[in-house]
Amino acid sequence: MDIKWKIIHLNEVDSTNEYAKRIAADSPEGTVVVAKRQTAGKGRKGRSWASPEGGLWLSVVFKPPRLDPRFVFVGALAVVDTLVDFGIASGIKWPNDVWAGERKIAGILTEGKGNEYTIMGIGINVNNPIPEELRESATSMFQLLGREVPLEKVLERLLFHLSGWYRVFLERPDLLMAKVREKTFILGRTVRVIRDGRELIGRAMDVLDDGSLLLDAAGQLKRILYGDVSLRLV
Ligand code: ATP
Ligand code: BTN
Repeated sequence: MDIKWKIIHLNEVDSTNEYAKRIAADSPEGTVVVAKRQTAGKGRKGRSWASPEGGLWLSVVFKPPRLDPRFVFVGALAVVDTLVDFGIASGIKWPNDVWAGERKIAGILTEGKGNEYTIMGIGINVNNPIPEELRESATSMFQLLGREVPLEKVLERLLFHLSGWYRVFLERPDLLMAKVREKTFILGRTVRVIRDGRELIGRAMDVLDDGSLLLDAAGQLKRILYGDVSLRLV
């Protein structure tokens, strides 16, 4: 089963996720909204996502059979594989970021409506400038490679890998999670998790089959669910 992509190109939009949500009910799976720039790009918890021209900002309408928190990993693995195609090694900062060389290069934001649809928003810093305040924490393909990369080539590789990992998600979620474990670079490291305003420090031990993170907090094993948690490397 290969997805038939239908790409909508926009110059400017508030957020491709918001646009995709507005059209999702009447759009087939595989509808892709790409914008040159977003005026209100967003991350999780309403955080803002810097989206100037030169980056790849897109959202895909998926219609998976059920809501599943592991769906975000389809996007994360597709980004990791896309970066490999351009010679960039990267890893997943559980649950929804992709980092290269200790800096954030991409983020994934999934938003669903019951069993109707799931929007997968993906932002990759490609040739766009990194805002001053994110210089310490963010990077781009341009910064890492020292040259511009054609956006349409990145898009083409990303869609290719998205359809591959989507199929794995549907047919062999165990294999998807095995790959997630391999690519999650925080395993073995000490992390700080903020959950409901409470802080938990521990060693990231594993990503479990349901997508949650296993944390060893002073000898106590805690299962951290993907949700409204923030995670920082210590
Ligand atoms: P966590 O999700 O664990 O809380 P996070 O800080 O990565 O960690 P997110 O909500 O995933 O939080 O991402 C939004 C954050 O990403 C913003 O608060 C900002 O710090 C950062 N950010 C915004 N735009 C970009 C960008 N283009 N590239 C990299 N980082 C960005
Ligand atoms: C995060 O790190 O929290 C996720 C960032 C997701 C950014 C992408 S850019 C395309 C799509 N539209 C948005 O407004 N957000 C996502």
